[in-house]
Amino acid sequence: MIKDDKKLVTKIRELKKKRNAIILVHNYQLPEVQDIADFRGDSLELSRIAAKTEAKVIVFCGVYFMAETASILSPDKLVIMPDVSAGCPMANMMNAADLRKLKLQHPGAVAVGYVNTSAAVKAELDYCCTSTNAVAVVNALRQEKEIIFVPDKYLADYVSKQSGRKLISWHGYCPTHVKILPEDLKREKNFHPQAKVMVHPECLASVVALADAVLSTSQMAKYAKEDPAREFIIGTESGLIYRLKQDNPDKEFYLASERAVCPNMKRTTQEKVLWALEELADEVKVSEEIRKKARLAIERMLKII
Ligand code: 13P
Ligand code: SF4
Repeated sequence: MIKDDKKLVTKIRELKKKRNAIILVHNYQLPEVQDIADFRGDSLELSRIAAKTEAKVIVFCGVYFMAETASILSPDKLVIMPDVSAGCPMANMMNAADLRKLKLQHPGAVAVGYVNTSAAVKAELDYCCTSTNAVAVVNALRQEKEIIFVPDKYLADYVSKQSGRKLISWHGYCPTHVKILPEDLKREKNFHPQAKVMVHPECLASVVALADAVLSTSQMAKYAKEDPAREFIIGTESGLIYRLKQDNPDKEFYLASERAVCPNMKRTTQEKVLWALEELADEVKVSEEIRKKARLAIERMLKII
């Protein structure tokens, strides 16, 4: 526990019980927020938990599209964010009109979209995917002639290389992951020649090319536990290091670049979680019309993997 504020944590736990709430926390959140999680995970895991939880209230500690996804899957629950201004710049790089236009330019193409999109964009998709299952989703579409894959051009490039499929992509990207450069990996490799290199598929193609493994955040957590290597260079957002060290106290983890910090993921704090539970706000809700359509794309993904 980084923050020594036991009273605050006790209050959060009491109120959570009273409200019949669960706290879902993404792997990039601040250590103090990871410490109060009921579930900590990547986008796919958190979506699955949101879909099946019995709790009445979901406190989502992550970014806006993740809370929206929870609300799409669990419309009868109250989904709240401790800091509703925490958005994902990549998700904001494409809106529904952009996708409709792209679909018109490619009639007959099947539309696959990363979970890092707004609910309105998801409503226009045939399939959703996450970093865990993007390759599997595209591989499942053998019969489809043309595939649109949005909004991340780097994820699209990675999936295209892995699946051998040509993809119609968009020009979105993650401003945090593109800050990790090939020279960062080369420098860290020089310092730690025995270390295995894990990177997120949102990274530049030149970074992905230098990795031993290309994985989602929770896949990295699993790989770090299971792989016999004692040292790892981590090419993703800084927040994951806390979990990796906690899970593997006898292994060493080196962040590829100190610049890999997502400011939106750092907006949530313990205080804000407490206030959210006290006020049961801010609610994240998706209109019924959008929700019904967006849900189809997410459910099709969950059926594949
Ligand atoms: P994961 O699903 O791998 O946790 O990734 C989410 C994300 O926003 C990566 O930047
Ligand atoms: Fe979005 Fe990148 Fe932050 Fe992930 S790390 S939430 S993709 S901006």
